[in-house]
Amino acid sequence: MRIDLRQITRSRDADHSPVPSARGGGRARPSHLHQRVDLAAEGVLCHDGRVTTDDASISATNPHSTPHARVSRRVGAIQPSATLAVDATAKALKAAGRPVIGFGAGEPDFPTPGHIVEEAVQAAQDPRNHRYSATGGQPELKQALAESFSGSTGLEIDPAQVLVTNGGKQAVFQTFATLLDPGDEVILPAPYWTTYPEAIRQTGATEVPVLAGVEQNYVPTVEQLEAARTERTRVLLLCSPSNPTGVVLTPEQVAEIGRWALEHGIWVVTDEIYQSLTYEGMPFTSVLKAVPELAETTVLLGGVAKSFAMTGWRVGWMVGPVDVIKAATNLQSHLTSHVNNIAQRAALAALTGPSEPVEEMRVAFDRRRRLIVEKLSQVPGFTVPTPTGAFYAFPDVSQALGRTIRGREVTTSTELATVILEEAEVAAVPGEAFGAPGHLRFSYALADDDITEGIDRVIALLSE
Ligand SMILES: Cc1ncc(COP(=O)(O)O)c(C=O)c1O
Repeated sequence: MRIDLRQITRSRDADHSPVPSARGGGRARPSHLHQRVDLAAEGVLCHDGRVTTDDASISATNPHSTPHARVSRRVGAIQPSATLAVDATAKALKAAGRPVIGFGAGEPDFPTPGHIVEEAVQAAQDPRNHRYSATGGQPELKQALAESFSGSTGLEIDPAQVLVTNGGKQAVFQTFATLLDPGDEVILPAPYWTTYPEAIRQTGATEVPVLAGVEQNYVPTVEQLEAARTERTRVLLLCSPSNPTGVVLTPEQVAEIGRWALEHGIWVVTDEIYQSLTYEGMPFTSVLKAVPELAETTVLLGGVAKSFAMTGWRVGWMVGPVDVIKAATNLQSHLTSHVNNIAQRAALAALTGPSEPVEEMRVAFDRRRRLIVEKLSQVPGFTVPTPTGAFYAFPDVSQALGRTIRGREVTTSTELATVILEEAEVAAVPGEAFGAPGHLRFSYALADDDITEGIDRVIALLSE
């Protein structure tokens, strides 16, 4: 199976498909869609949810099959982001005129607030921003971040503990690169964000997933973490509010997990990129606030993307002990250097400017959250816990599997996502991409009317 997003922009039908269907062989498919969009059969997603690469010679499953592969094993084994693949598929279909409603994207649909854009316009006219600047970030931005994290953790955070990165993703990769050696293990609570395992594997370390299902509200117990611990365990990953589940850990849960990590000398990498998006009065709790003794063995990650509708600006950060931040800064100095000066100035305006625009977006997300939960609860076979953070709903869809929909057998959540995309023209990301088969992720960062229309289509399809 191969990924080739170009294929979905070509018109073809069952008789002229250049890619054999992994699921149905030569079985005829419905002909009313010109663009075939079967995520699994066409190779955007494998049936286990992994996204395939374009070249069999760099197969992740058998890296030894080609003695002189053109791409290194480590990089060749990287799977393209499933969430971006689903989003790209939906966007390509839309561009081709299909009325697709996309619940795949992990980004706010709002424009960046005006005062932030205005600051960037002015920054672009300032010649000081036309030159290289310090790798670790502009001093004013590092100072603002240090103050902000001093507030959220209750600790005295120094600007030397801050590194400004090209988005949260670079912070994730650099943190693992700085902390991990080959053979190390990272305990990774599942469902997890799809990028973590890839970043971990690039270091030669291994992820050890700990699955917490819907029956435990996707929150792992300390007993489960303890069962996964070995003498190689180096890091525990925390992500609250969570992508993909929208779960926010309670202060008690954060404290209990943090104390366990402290007791066993395990580093905590805590991704707090959704920290300002919580609902129903659910407080965000930083692990450093709950367990300040972890200060020497914790790295906080974040960025402006989600809270300030700034996904395209690419500003994130790492906050941690000075030695780790210094080492990561050295790495970044050879990798990307500093973040675009104009984007840094925009990020400073975001952090220090008025909070009303952010609150307006949060209120809109909250309204959409309640709407999507109400709607998804009406889909036959879906179990929908109410998320209290981020902008994702993550129903357990296992009761909707093992049946035939419009003549097609649906046994996995990847197959269900494919059928929903083809037959209802609604894009959602299958749980396999998050280490949690039997689920679908719906981002509710889209207009209320689209949420209603999209989930109504899913209700109608699965009610047939
Ligand atoms: C949990 C989590 N962390 C980090 C990121 C990275 O965000 P960015 O690189 O856009 O700043 C994302 C983006 O989807 C995310 O969901």
